[in-house]
Amino acid sequence: LRTRVAIVGAGPAGLLLSHLLHRDGIDSIVIDSRSRDEIESTIRAGILEQGTVELLTESGASDRVLVDGHRHDGIELRFEGEGHRIDFAELVGRAVWLYPQHEVLKDLVARRLGDRGDLRFGWTATEVLDAESDSPRVVGTDAAGEPFEIVADFVVGADGSRSVTRTAVTGSMTGGYFREYPFAWFGILCEAPPSAPELIYSASDEGFALISQRSATVQRMYLQCDPELDPASMSDAEIWDQLQRRVRGTELIEGPIFQRDVLRFRSFVAHELHRGNVFLMGDAAHTVPPTGAKGMNLAVADVVLLHAALREHAASGSRTLIDSYASTASDRIWRAQHFSWWMTSMLHAAPDATEFDRRRRLGELESVVRSRAGSTYLAEAYTGWPLAGWP
Ligand code: DHB
Repeated sequence: LRTRVAIVGAGPAGLLLSHLLHRDGIDSIVIDSRSRDEIESTIRAGILEQGTVELLTESGASDRVLVDGHRHDGIELRFEGEGHRIDFAELVGRAVWLYPQHEVLKDLVARRLGDRGDLRFGWTATEVLDAESDSPRVVGTDAAGEPFEIVADFVVGADGSRSVTRTAVTGSMTGGYFREYPFAWFGILCEAPPSAPELIYSASDEGFALISQRSATVQRMYLQCDPELDPASMSDAEIWDQLQRRVRGTELIEGPIFQRDVLRFRSFVAHELHRGNVFLMGDAAHTVPPTGAKGMNLAVADVVLLHAALREHAASGSRTLIDSYASTASDRIWRAQHFSWWMTSMLHAAPDATEFDRRRRLGELESVVRSRAGSTYLAEAYTGWPLAGWP
């Protein structure tokens, strides 16, 4: 098989890149080891930055986000039994949209298939070869279990945190800057109406809780927990008791819990994002802890840069944007790493925290909600810095 751009991974980053390239007449093949159904049903994050929404709608990837998604003009930070609204609209004139990632994926898959895009589900890449040549290759096993080879001008690794492509760029599966956290999130989906108009990020002595939403009848909530917690070990009543304690001062509307999972917290940035004609983007390039919802939005920002670089190369043969991809992407990646680390450490109680640490964190939260400068930084970062290079 031969194509201009071989994209490993049919997540939001891989599919969106393929869609944008198609609009410029640049063909690509997207492969993913998972099935279409698996990709479209995996529960992931739910918050899109304003720039992500603009890109999805203006590029024709999704108009449903504006219909079925919900604009949120702020969030609530809660601590010591009181809520404090961070008013994005008033502080920075921007907003975010609640629209689950699997809905973005459904829109992108439908769009690519509608445009006769070449998507291959159940195709597992095992190796990316010849990164520094003019014809890098992806080899692996197709849906029937037969070996395949895709030869391309460029290979893009959008294959998530366990990226196979990463080895071709950094020389190893693990080559990167890395940090782990001594806690995780226990996530649930429940059948209930929203308990509040906006998301609640609540720091409490029992640990952090995030009250998010999915629809008028389904809510998503998270509890800080031990990374080793078995999701089956807590009863519904224990979960609700913990959630209610952690949002002290307000009351959640309870309902049947129908899904449970544990999310690990890590920060990671690959040492290199580009080698020769092979690139990394999205979770293959970086992972952020979930607090602040930067993961998918950061992947979209990589797509914008890489799309511009590949388009420029197709139009003029220039490698200027290709050669600056890694450093331009890094700038936003490290700001997002900082923001995600900051939101995480400000809102979570570490297991070994001292009384000094606890009081200092409350001082930090007070500094954010009482200072317009502090709140404005949070609002800017949460709603997203401007996307370079678009349209
Ligand atoms: C959601 C996840 C996040 O990490 C976050 O900061 C906000 C919302 C969610 O899944 O809804």
